[in-house]
Amino acid sequence: MRDILPPESGRWRRFTEVFADVVERAGYGQLVTPLLEDLGVFTRIGDATDVVTKEMYDFVDKGDRHVALRPEMTASVCRAFAEHRPTVPWKIWYAGSNFRYEKPQRGRYRQFDQVGVEVLGADDPNLDVEVIALAWEFYARLGLRRVSLIVNSLGEPGDRARYVEALRDHFTAVGDGLSEQSRATLERNPLRVLDSKRDVDQPHIAAAPQIGEFHGDDAASHFAAVLDGLQALDIPFTIEPKLVRGLDYYRRTIFEFQGSTLDSAQNALGGGGRYDGLVEALGGPATPGVGFALGVDRTLLACDDEGVFGAEPVELDAFVVDVTGGLQASTITAELRAAGLAADRGYDNRSMKAQMKLANRSGARVALIVGEDELAAGTVVVKPMRGGDGQVAVARAEVVDHLRQSIPSAEPTPAESNEHE
Ligand code: HAM
Repeated sequence: MRDILPPESGRWRRFTEVFADVVERAGYGQLVTPLLEDLGVFTRIGDATDVVTKEMYDFVDKGDRHVALRPEMTASVCRAFAEHRPTVPWKIWYAGSNFRYEKPQRGRYRQFDQVGVEVLGADDPNLDVEVIALAWEFYARLGLRRVSLIVNSLGEPGDRARYVEALRDHFTAVGDGLSEQSRATLERNPLRVLDSKRDVDQPHIAAAPQIGEFHGDDAASHFAAVLDGLQALDIPFTIEPKLVRGLDYYRRTIFEFQGSTLDSAQNALGGGGRYDGLVEALGGPATPGVGFALGVDRTLLACDDEGVFGAEPVELDAFVVDVTGGLQASTITAELRAAGLAADRGYDNRSMKAQMKLANRSGARVALIVGEDELAAGTVVVKPMRGGDGQVAVARAEVVDHLRQSIPSAEPTPAESNEHE
């Protein structure tokens, strides 16, 4: 678990703002759910999912309830749907922290953030396309170029069950040829053997049956419609028949966005797909769903690697240096801030030299200096800090107007514009 300090924290906030902008324009509203849910909300994700069986932060609270910190948000969204019964299609987005007790490494943390969307109550393949297109647009807004989309279909639950049995037969026949870890995975969830990155497993994975052979007509036509939709929007994709994803609730379309730089185990920047059964399992009516979640931590690492969407410190317009006790700095900064300008100041009545050093370090465009002479004369010295013309003395009452005129972008605050109405 990590601390996020400024200016990096500002980048995190902008990340969510850009995401909100992309998805709210597409009709998605934000859902905020608790960080903590009844354990049962998450166990319904499935008992063959590591996220649920091995990685959950769960405990018994003071009221003897068995609760867990959320390991992901799709289950919480379905729980909220079952509880509130909104009209469908319910299009929502979310952002927040999740918790998984995994082995921490670069791109993998025990507390990590996601942004995502879910649409509940519609089976239309155009929705699968819509959510993928939104993630795609978001990556473009961040400036990321090296993201690839891989897609697959797990078929209907019956198709998937037959496929799992075929995989079990195939890998069981391989016997000791499989790595020890994959033999253990085979016991729990044959699909996940396909995720193995171990060399000894690769020939057996390559020879394994493929899910496409098991698709019924419905799943096949749904998948074909999704691929057509992606093509119509010029979104490049690769069909990856071995893509299975880690959570048990998926059916039909699944997809993943991969970056190019993190280790292969961490290169999934985001993923999602269609699911059903979750709302029902949580006490609601049978309801199909589709959505995705993008990992904030990993996506920002990808931004670092591509040199895009960097952290930007807040740009100060002015830094007030007051060596007359500090009251002038209080009133000047208050006026500037009320006028929509960004202003900081020195404290503790430190020396002119010390405060000028702070002003320099702050990156402010100008220093506003008040010494005993200025206080007596009712003026403030305006000193450009990023080159430009020399300093001028301005009447105390004119300081805000003076600065505003020299900063064309400064907008009057709503309170001020009302004054002129
Ligand atoms: P997921 O693949 O488990 O899917 O997680 C989505 C993304 O969250 C991953 O691609 C990754 O970027 C990020 N992530 C997961 N675990 C960690 C971690 N320990 N540290 C850093 N980042 C991590 C889901 O969570 C599904 N709920 C997605 C979904 C939504 N499916 C349908 N709707």
